[in-house]
Amino acid sequence: MKILGITCSPRKNGNTEILMHQALDAAAKEGCATEIFRASEKDVAPCDACGTCFETGSCAIRDDMQQLYGMLDGADGVIFGTPVYFGSVSAQGKAIMDRMFALLQRRALKGKAAGALVVTRRVGAIQTRSLIYSFCIAQGMIVAGGAIGYGREIGDVLTGVGGGIDMSAMEESRMLGVSVARLAQKLR
Ligand SMILES: Cc1cc2nc3c(=O)[nH]c(=O)nc-3n(C[C@H](O)[C@H](O)[C@H](O)COP(=O)(O)O)c2cc1C
Repeated sequence: MKILGITCSPRKNGNTEILMHQALDAAAKEGCATEIFRASEKDVAPCDACGTCFETGSCAIRDDMQQLYGMLDGADGVIFGTPVYFGSVSAQGKAIMDRMFALLQRRALKGKAAGALVVTRRVGAIQTRSLIYSFCIAQGMIVAGGAIGYGREIGDVLTGVGGGIDMSAMEESRMLGVSVARLAQKLR
């Protein structure tokens, strides 16, 4: 049982990564192997709409997305993490989502557990979380839930509130890891 975290902030060791580690540590405590793909250290180009994946189910662009395709194939659950950039996912996150069109051609993610982890300074968290949920549903994934953190400076999310009424961002992220792990185990 493997849970994959994808962090889509270009900022290394930032708030998205802090909360993702919290979620993945919780998934590990549930007995899952965990893996992380950090957009901050990868090179993923946007989809160029070449249409190759319609024919072959594979993407023709040779970059670090090829590594992520392999990681996604091996994952039972996936947590997508992104900062909010102008009310949406980061450019890195959008490139990764669009490139996952190739996986839709062969329904590679259908039936896998999913979670959304979003970090924002002030506004845009709910709509960004909804975007990720919609993307996951379009891929045939089953959404376990999400977590929200608020902050600007690196580390702000360590002490801040979550998106719900009575949890910190760290506790919400921990719960997200537990939920994705348990759903993945049930779906297997
Ligand atoms: C280009 C850019 C756009 C941003 N847009 C928003 C926004 O629309 N709403 C908001 O509340 N915060 C916005 N922020 C703040 C980030 O969401 C916030 O700093 C977050 O903690 C970054 O996460 P990270 O530490 O994982 O990079 C923006 C930051 C950047 C760099």
